[in-house]
Amino acid sequence: MSVPVPIVIDCDPGHDDALAILLAAGDPAVDLLAVTTVAGNQSLEKTTLNALRVCTVAGITGVPVAAGCPRPLVQPLRVADDVHGESGLDGPRFPAPTVTAEPGHAVDLLRRILTEHPEPVTLVPTAPLTNIALLLTRHPELAPRIREIVLMGGSTERGNRTPAAEFNIHTDPEAADIVFRSGVPVTMCGLNVTHQALATPEVLARFEALDTELGWICVELLRFFAGTYRRLFGFSAPPVHDPVAVARVIDPAMVACVDAYVAVELSGRHTRGATVVDLHGTLGRPANARVAVGLRTDLFWDRLLAAVSALGAGAAGGR
Ligand code: RIB
Ligand code: CA
Repeated sequence: MSVPVPIVIDCDPGHDDALAILLAAGDPAVDLLAVTTVAGNQSLEKTTLNALRVCTVAGITGVPVAAGCPRPLVQPLRVADDVHGESGLDGPRFPAPTVTAEPGHAVDLLRRILTEHPEPVTLVPTAPLTNIALLLTRHPELAPRIREIVLMGGSTERGNRTPAAEFNIHTDPEAADIVFRSGVPVTMCGLNVTHQALATPEVLARFEALDTELGWICVELLRFFAGTYRRLFGFSAPPVHDPVAVARVIDPAMVACVDAYVAVELSGRHTRGATVVDLHGTLGRPANARVAVGLRTDLFWDRLLAAVSALGAGAAGGR
């Protein structure tokens, strides 16, 4: 067994963020050092409450949770209540969280972890990149302490918030531009690959078969998400975006990548927030990112189910 990779998840729970937290906490290949939250799918208050809810129901203790930026760097916040509901995590009923948030700002927690951890840490943003951009801007000396940034965001093809732009990048394009131009190793897991992670009825049946409280919460999250994606996008099954970034850290063989130059469009009237991915080197610019292009869905679901099973084993019984 290789040494677990130390990671921090920066998220905006969010149904798929919730599953990313569970995968990171339940898989032995990674060591979840902290969870930081940012405004995106919902307000910062709601994404932070949801992170605490997920940690509580999964029995994730000893992992600090800290709230970060309440709005993007430049443009106003526009939440995705149409996708994730009024709470940001509609579907299941959650008990009052027993896990509490750290008093300080997420960027200060990230700074402390990067400074004190004995080896460089992998950052896994599954949300708008506001916290990460602020960290890199305020503490550029910490860049060498970041092993890599493996993010869910962008797309080599179309967007989902606009025809051109994916939600995480579109919500804060200036932050994304800072991250892609930072020089820190970046891996981009975009919609082109996360749309392969479809929670089909067969996948839901595997979560149901766990018959644990946590397993059933995952079923209710995925059922809500399925309704959203059917209604808004005509999907027969919902794509579970964020855990794909965690899967890339767990086992790079699960998520095939190519090196490419990626630019974030900041000024296009119809394309602001788009990730322009030069897969064929037509711009003559050096690659600044690894771009995910393939997913081993069999391995992906096996690892996610195993993580939820491991976490839920200690929880109360099923329905
Ligand atoms: O476009 C998908 C991304 O936007 C995911 O991270 C989802 O949680 C939302 O934040
Ligand atoms: Ca997210």
